Amino acid sequence: MKRTRLTAVRAMEILDSRGNPTVRVYVELEDGTEATASVPSGASTGENEAVELRDHEENRYGGKGVLQAVANVNEKISPAVLGMDARQQSVIDQRLIELDGTENKSKLGANAILGVSMAVARAASMSTGVPLYQYLGGVGARRIPVPCMNILNGGAHADNSVDIQEFMAVPLGAPTFREGLRYVAETFHTLKGILKKRGLSTSVGDEGGFAPNMGSNEEAIEIIIEGIEKAGYRPGQDIAIALDSAASSFSSDLVNHYDLKWSGRGEMDSEGLIKMAEKWVADYPIVLWEDPLAERDWDGFQEFTRRLGDAIEVVGDDLFVTNTRYIKQGIEKKSANAALIKLNQIGTVSESIEAVRMCRDAGWRSFISHRSGETSDSFLADFAVAMDSGQLKTGSACRSERIVKYNRLLEIEQELGDTALYYWK
Ligand code: PGA
Ligand code: ZN
Repeated sequence: MKRTRLTAVRAMEILDSRGNPTVRVYVELEDGTEATASVPSGASTGENEAVELRDHEENRYGGKGVLQAVANVNEKISPAVLGMDARQQSVIDQRLIELDGTENKSKLGANAILGVSMAVARAASMSTGVPLYQYLGGVGARRIPVPCMNILNGGAHADNSVDIQEFMAVPLGAPTFREGLRYVAETFHTLKGILKKRGLSTSVGDEGGFAPNMGSNEEAIEIIIEGIEKAGYRPGQDIAIALDSAASSFSSDLVNHYDLKWSGRGEMDSEGLIKMAEKWVADYPIVLWEDPLAERDWDGFQEFTRRLGDAIEVVGDDLFVTNTRYIKQGIEKKSANAALIKLNQIGTVSESIEAVRMCRDAGWRSFISHRSGETSDSFLADFAVAMDSGQLKTGSACRSERIVKYNRLLEIEQELGDTALYYWK
């Protein structure tokens, strides 16, 4: 008896956390289950990401409208998937990929496709009465990810004098997720006090981290360490640091020329950046570094990983764009030892799962991530638990579109009780 067939698939245009349009999809099943899902949107996007379809009508939202993507859901995707069984996630995702027919989902839009893919998963989980994290991850899904909390923002996510896009506090020494979240939320609040006392700005960037003008990138790390200590924690043991350089955003050729323009530190080649990283890793409790080099700098990534890959986790974001084609290359070339996983970079739930599987098979880690433009959808929290990846980044301890994911993880942990797992490695 199949009561999980899709009976309605519709989309609408909503706003994301930056006030830009994005896609929300609504699906209905034969048994009356109704589910929605909303699609996030990045700012420092990789050039090989699946295409986020925008209307480019300058007189509407500065060209950022998504009415075409919405129409694609309503007029093209809906008739193609109606009647399909929502429990057949991979079959439905495959249908969407084929219907689009392009390498990068440019015809229907990855925003249109992902909205449907996520809503289908949620509807199936609701209909079968299994929580989303277990529906996607099985009954063994019980590891709550360490929340890598982005407490200080720079680069393209802020208007300040810091080049590194994200400075994250990683509560790897906490006994549980709930405690880990408390460690880093307290650090966030303590940091605010320190910034205020020094007359620095406590306004926040797109992901909710503070975005003060600092004298240098190093000073940003040092003030975070001060925050960790002042909040009562031991840097490196209780709370470590993770960075996302998003280096494509300060590279002119995406290969070997960098200009640390926001801090005014000036031009550098890949070797210069790697040397700087070696010093930082020696001086500071850094455990993870994402996109230390630009997305076409495969040689730089390889060298970075050769020199630092034993000491820290090296994550490719713009380099791999959650695409198994590039992750495979990265595994072969030893360009990193982990991949960032963003569902909308690839455009379906199934392909995101595939990217995680490829990482796991290679002994790599996968780092589950939100986008800088988010919505109140908490899908990501369940997805992270389902993927058993043990690490997640979803912004700071403010801005509800970030907090909703943390709160969902608190719920999941509570539901799992003593069986919940929490550990970094
Ligand atoms: P984005 O930033 O969502 O703007 O791409 C997040 C990241 O670079 O990890
Ligand atoms: Zn990144």
